[in-house]
Amino acid sequence: MVTKVLMVCLGNICRSPLAEGILKEKVKSNQVFVDSAGTGGFHIGKQPDYRSIAVAKKYNIDISNQRCRQFSTKDFDAFDFIFVMDKSNYTNVIAKARNTDDISKVQLLLSNDRTITEEVPDPYYDEDDGFEIVYHLINNACDKIAIQLNAIHNS
Ligand code: 4NP
Repeated sequence: MVTKVLMVCLGNICRSPLAEGILKEKVKSNQVFVDSAGTGGFHIGKQPDYRSIAVAKKYNIDISNQRCRQFSTKDFDAFDFIFVMDKSNYTNVIAKARNTDDISKVQLLLSNDRTITEEVPDPYYDEDDGFEIVYHLINNACDKIAIQLNAIHNS
């Protein structure tokens, strides 16, 4: 069995490509498939933002091969867990849900983390340090998610 995890943000060029790359590093690819998508369609086919590529590279993760794609209703069929970065992503994803099964797959990435903000802020209009902050928020969340996923697969 392979568990399928989708990371979603607005543009699929800043936050969710980082989340995809970071979680992939923490799980076994034959146990967990990780992908990402954006609710908006502005950047389809593009590489991640150069600042996301740079901060990932700083921590030895290569996300430069990723290409932007748009979230669609069929993703509810293809994925077991859908993690969104902020509440507006949540609203946009839920708007495409067909039933309560679809809705139950969607959660805020930081919803497990009670010590910090619930949202991964959009760094698109920030300076580079916004990407550093976002990297650490996502990395901490992915540590917890990886522990849960590894427990499912190794029990
Ligand atoms: P992301 O950031 O949702 O983390 O990929 C954004 C990237 C681009 C835009 C908005 C957010 N944009 O409006 O083009």
